[in-house]
Amino acid sequence: MIQLETERLRLREFTLDDAEDMYHYAKDARVGPMAGWAPHRSLEETKEVIQLFIAEQDVWAIVLKDTGRVIGSIGLHERKPDPAVQHEAQREIGYVLSPDYWGKGYVPEAVREVQRYGFEQLELERIWCGYYSYNDRSRRVVEKCGFTYAFTKQQQLTRLDGRTVDFLVYMIQQPTP
Ligand SMILES: CC(C)(COP(=O)(O)OP(=O)(O)OC[C@H]1O[C@@H](n2cnc3c(N)ncnc32)[C@H](O)[C@@H]1OP(=O)(O)O)[C@@H](O)C(=O)NCCC(=O)NCCS
Repeated sequence: MIQLETERLRLREFTLDDAEDMYHYAKDARVGPMAGWAPHRSLEETKEVIQLFIAEQDVWAIVLKDTGRVIGSIGLHERKPDPAVQHEAQREIGYVLSPDYWGKGYVPEAVREVQRYGFEQLELERIWCGYYSYNDRSRRVVEKCGFTYAFTKQQQLTRLDGRTVDFLVYMIQQPTP
């Protein structure tokens, strides 16, 4: 995976050496459930997830440059959430951050760099991003990063508790030169 950089962050491929850092936030009940997955129950589970990230090559580790620690993750996934828009080059961004670092604008900073990479280097036409209706923090990220509301879909939380909830889908289009 290509490595990306912002003022305060480095976005790079995960390695199994990141398991301890990731487990620290992945076991936290404030993190996974907001993104639709259950908190991790063991370091082993975190290692399995990292192996998936490495295999699929679509998730970066968010590294704080000051400390070199992994504080979250950001993905650029191959998804086409709107049945009416199947022809365009498109991806969907997803992210989580350790609660120790919330409120400092780190995820918006990472999202803007992934948008730039997606549009300039991957030549995407559209990038999606969404959140569950009760996730006000993620709503703020989406709003601050220039996405506009597209539609709401019902989603079953199969990796959490099976509830069906509203998922608000937003998008941003490739800027015209
Ligand atoms: C959503 C999330 C990624 C935001 O990341 P972040 O880097 O903290 O983003 P920001 O710094 O822009 O803060 C976003 C909002 O969080 C809230 N916030 C700020 N400081 C906070 C703090 N210390 N504690 C809790 N929330 C805080 C504010 O509402 C802020 O919006 P504002 O800019 O209008 O004040 C992070 O909260 C998170 O990982 N949440 C759990 C997982 C998740 O929801 N993932 C997204 C799934 S769609």
